[in-house]
Amino acid sequence: MCGQNRKGLRHIEDMKRFFIIFLFVILTASIIVVWSFSYFSSHEEAHIVNTKISESSHIPSEKGVFDRSSFALEYSIMPLDQEHQRDLKTYYENRAFYGAPPSIPHPVFEGSIGAKECLKCHENGGFVEKFNAYTPVSPHPDKLNCVQCHVQVKTNELFSPSSFTSNSAPSLKNQALLGSPPIIPHQIQLRENCLSCHAGSSAVKEIRTSHPNRINCRQCHVINEKKIADIGIFKRDIKQ
Ligand code: HEC
Ligand code: HEC
Ligand code: HEC
Ligand code: HEC
Repeated sequence: MCGQNRKGLRHIEDMKRFFIIFLFVILTASIIVVWSFSYFSSHEEAHIVNTKISESSHIPSEKGVFDRSSFALEYSIMPLDQEHQRDLKTYYENRAFYGAPPSIPHPVFEGSIGAKECLKCHENGGFVEKFNAYTPVSPHPDKLNCVQCHVQVKTNELFSPSSFTSNSAPSLKNQALLGSPPIIPHQIQLRENCLSCHAGSSAVKEIRTSHPNRINCRQCHVINEKKIADIGIFKRDIKQ
């Protein structure tokens, strides 16, 4: 009886000892973990939050303004080729009316919608020896079906007589004060990407900007919000 009791007591003491050793091990382990965590975190590099302008930080309707902005600095140091500049007169002459898609003034291979065939020159522009001109950069390289809107002029005759008179282009230098930014006199649809027309060698000389590097054009230039007059029901006025 007595021997059995002593055995039981020893068993309980063993359990206690194990429990104390177990606690000691846990404590040592946690000291090692906490210490090494704080030691290694003190060796970390200083961390700066990524402040790069992300895609989503643009106002969606103004996103197009930034499409060619990675070329802004190149545009501002590009040497000017005085010999081969376009002017507003030839720019307007190549359009059926103000705002119409320009016609294709050079020979093209017909049989495709355009896309890559046209964008190999019109995406980034550049001088083309055989046409002796700089390629105007497409303001809408995402619109791939070029020939849906741009065609070659095949005839100068009218299909049928009409009373159509072309609308005229707005005037330039519409500024509140001398030296303040002129308003954007044109619509923005298909013209979201300002640098494609206002910078570089292919830009029309009267509207080439002196500051392509300012990038956020619409921060200073505002759109002409003038309401368009309602003309009522449109009637064709063709003399039979
Ligand atoms: C080999 C390069 C090249 C290719 C390919 C090319 N173009 Fe052109 N494009 C030019 C050049 C250079 C001009 C300027 C011509 C001038 O001013 O006389 C031009 C002018 C134009 C213009 C007139 C722009 C304006 O503001 O008056 C349109 C529109 C045009 N191209 C559309 C097209 C389409 C559509 C295609 C594809 C079917 C195409 N181009 C393929 C080089 C090219
Ligand atoms: C939905 C119709 C549409 C499609 C598709 C289209 N364009 Fe245009 N494009 C226009 C209009 C409208 C303008 C005139 C903008 C203006 O001058 O007011 C224009 C202007 C241009 C200009 C003149 C820029 C300048 O500085 O004179 C070029 C070059 C051009 N487009 C090339 C292309 C090419 C290349 C494609 C195909 C990859 C294409 N476009 C597809 C409607 C279109
Ligand atoms: C398709 C080519 C094209 C694109 C793209 C374009 N513009 Fe223009 N811009 C013109 C032409 C051409 C004129 C001359 C007036 C006219 O014909 O509407 C002009 C005139 C202007 C003027 C008036 C300049 C003056 O001296 O009074 C400002 C400012 C202007 N644009 C700003 C912009 C801004 C900002 C953007 C981008 C949101 C833009 N443009 C996109 C072709 C373009
Ligand atoms: C910080 C304000 C500001 C920003 C941003 C800005 N502009 Fe201007 N811009 C002006 C002022 C001011 C003038 C008038 C300069 C003068 O009359 O001497 C002007 C004039 C112009 C003109 C008339 C021609 C000229 O250069 O004088 C055009 C075209 C033009 N800006 C286009 C642009 C385009 C395209 C962008 C974007 C790349 C842009 N601007 C960004 C303030 C700005």
